[in-house]
Amino acid sequence: MSSLSQPVIKPISDLTSIPLSHHHVRAFKPEQLSPPRDFTQPDFAHDKRLIVEIGAGKGKHALQYAAANPNDQLIAIERTKAKFDAFAKQASSSNLHNLLPIHADAIPWIIHALAPASIDGVYLLYPNPEPHNPNQQWLNMPFFEFLLSRLKGGSEIILASNVEPYIDQAQHRALATWCLPTVREQVPNDSARTHFEIKYLARGERCWQLTMTKPEVYHTRFDSWLAV
Ligand SMILES: C[S@@+](CC[C@H](N)C(=O)[O-])C[C@H]1O[C@@H](n2cnc3c(N)ncnc32)[C@H](O)[C@@H]1O
Repeated sequence: MSSLSQPVIKPISDLTSIPLSHHHVRAFKPEQLSPPRDFTQPDFAHDKRLIVEIGAGKGKHALQYAAANPNDQLIAIERTKAKFDAFAKQASSSNLHNLLPIHADAIPWIIHALAPASIDGVYLLYPNPEPHNPNQQWLNMPFFEFLLSRLKGGSEIILASNVEPYIDQAQHRALATWCLPTVREQVPNDSARTHFEIKYLARGERCWQLTMTKPEVYHTRFDSWLAV
């Protein structure tokens, strides 16, 4: 395994001569994904930090986060219509001008909406652990490299799960493949950020959080890639 304190910079000779900071070989192909239906380029607040939540569910965390962090703009993306509708209803009555609820698949939306090194943090709270389809786990997807390219250096991806093997594998992947420093913590029993978190903790399950930091100097194949 590579040393954490020294991200490995290795030349990739097959596609380009850009030195990559990670070991993921298979390249994501953003040019093959069309914008989501009814996509419009959002207006981002230039005076706020930009945070993205992927899989926001009914928006409990998003609403709390936006209220508690007025200097951040939170883009909270949910693709399941029934959940999004419940979220959007609460968001419209909350009048939080720094919260942007998005009904879309987060992958094409992020490709078409976000510039390189434009975001200050990502939340992935209780994603489906995909035990039978590990290729669909966020850190196993080639898209993860694209997501890293949209983050500013020094910013964090926060992943939470009640499935300990999922966090084990994600941490291994973060260290060995993506060369990201990680911090792993148990979620406090009285935490109540999301509906799934409340449900798992009420059942007496343990929940875990993995914080991954993008190093200040970090190269991906998408650092200059912009949707046209
Ligand atoms: C297990 S639920 C957790 C919801 C919420 N974060 C919580 O903790 O209560 C995972 C959510 O992620 C959403 N999701 C999964 N993949 C997504 C994607 N590519 N884009 C947007 N949402 C996605 C699902 O629709 C689902 O609502």
